[in-house]
Amino acid sequence: MTDQRFIHSQWSSRLAFILAASGSAIGLGNIWKFPYLAGDNGGGAFVMIYLLCVAAIGIPIMIAETLLGRCGRRSPINTMRALADEAKASRIWGYVGWLGVVSGFLILSYYSVIAGWSMAYIFKIGGGFLSHASSEVAQQVFLDLKAAPDVQVIWHTAFMAATLFIVSRGVSDGIERATRIMMPGLFVMLILLDGYALSSEGFGQGVSFLFKPDFARLSGESVLTAMGQAFFSLGLGMGSIMMYGSYLPVQVSISRATLAVASADTLVALLAGIAIFPVVFANHLAPTLGPGLIFETLPIAFGQMPAGRLFGTVFFILVFFAALTSAIALIEPTIAFLSENLGFNRTRASVWSGIACWFIGLGTVFSFNAWAEVSWFGKNFFELVDFLTADIMLPLGGILMALFAGWIMERTLTEAELGRNRAYPLWRILVRYVAPVAVAVIFLRAIGVL
Ligand code: TRP
Repeated sequence: MTDQRFIHSQWSSRLAFILAASGSAIGLGNIWKFPYLAGDNGGGAFVMIYLLCVAAIGIPIMIAETLLGRCGRRSPINTMRALADEAKASRIWGYVGWLGVVSGFLILSYYSVIAGWSMAYIFKIGGGFLSHASSEVAQQVFLDLKAAPDVQVIWHTAFMAATLFIVSRGVSDGIERATRIMMPGLFVMLILLDGYALSSEGFGQGVSFLFKPDFARLSGESVLTAMGQAFFSLGLGMGSIMMYGSYLPVQVSISRATLAVASADTLVALLAGIAIFPVVFANHLAPTLGPGLIFETLPIAFGQMPAGRLFGTVFFILVFFAALTSAIALIEPTIAFLSENLGFNRTRASVWSGIACWFIGLGTVFSFNAWAEVSWFGKNFFELVDFLTADIMLPLGGILMALFAGWIMERTLTEAELGRNRAYPLWRILVRYVAPVAVAVIFLRAIGVL
């Protein structure tokens, strides 16, 4: 294998890494998925387990994954192989990279469909179709979109094309510039929505739903969902952060940079939840609307606030960009692998993976209409892909990375990467024992063994 150390480019600064990694972490997972999962799983207790998973499992694994990337400096598959060679361990570890490539690919297939919905909403709100909408009108507009596979396919195609266009042109430049403007913009819009929520009569009820834990409502599967969401939202377990870590200059502190990213990600998810649930309760809607939650509730809020049409349009444009920066991270390991191992250039790699991913995404489009009744293990196509990736493959990939960093790599190597300080022994205990055991227990509880 050739040494790629000098082939990859590097981030221009610590901030550039933080912005790109936040771009990967902050996406539909925070704004679309977190609120509806919290709604479906009873609120407060779910949120609390989620926060625990971020702190005890997510952050240590994020540090481990970034570290692997910076040590390996290749695509995830080749990084894992090279590091395994270096540690005189089996090359089987390369399959962790494979697992990641497949999961990123599958996630992007449905991610693109949902991002397509938010593109459709830019025009629905911008065109004034939802101004002063009652909750009935807002729900009907969403149901109509859900029932129309052709419209969804058009937006899915547009989103996929935009993603692969950017990816084909190379990572650092475009992403750096886009996230620098979009991320703060998204933040400001969420604060604005929270301001609106604060003045709404549902505020108290919404906030207590989100933060008051009622553990009686929490099933084993809900705990698994909360953990899966921690992996999904932080963008862990499949090599995205490993890729970004591989562009990280050696002098940057990994633990401090990842901590900043994880905090920003969590804050955005909570701000989104605080914006949405007061609207749910003020309009006597159910929190259990599922994947349609933000699309059925936020337009009501925008419909009522001053200049809501403008703010609503800007909001969904920003959601689109947040999704775009995450989509790029989801597909990047596949592109890097195709170019490093099969000699594809970036354009060719983008075109082929884009077409394949687009095709699988059709299954998700149909799971909201024509195939709505088709189910495997009680889940439709979208739910199945989501479950397999977020709840199984990401935690598995993440744990294998943690075990690799904690048990296989030389201690001297990881200590040199992270720096000799008081946090190092804590991190080591977390990746060696706490995170693997926690994930195992959660898996076993979900399938009813514990
Ligand atoms: N974290 C992103 C979100 O919340 C999605 C994402 C990007 C992701 N890269 C990932 C999810 C890697 C899992 C793994 O929308």
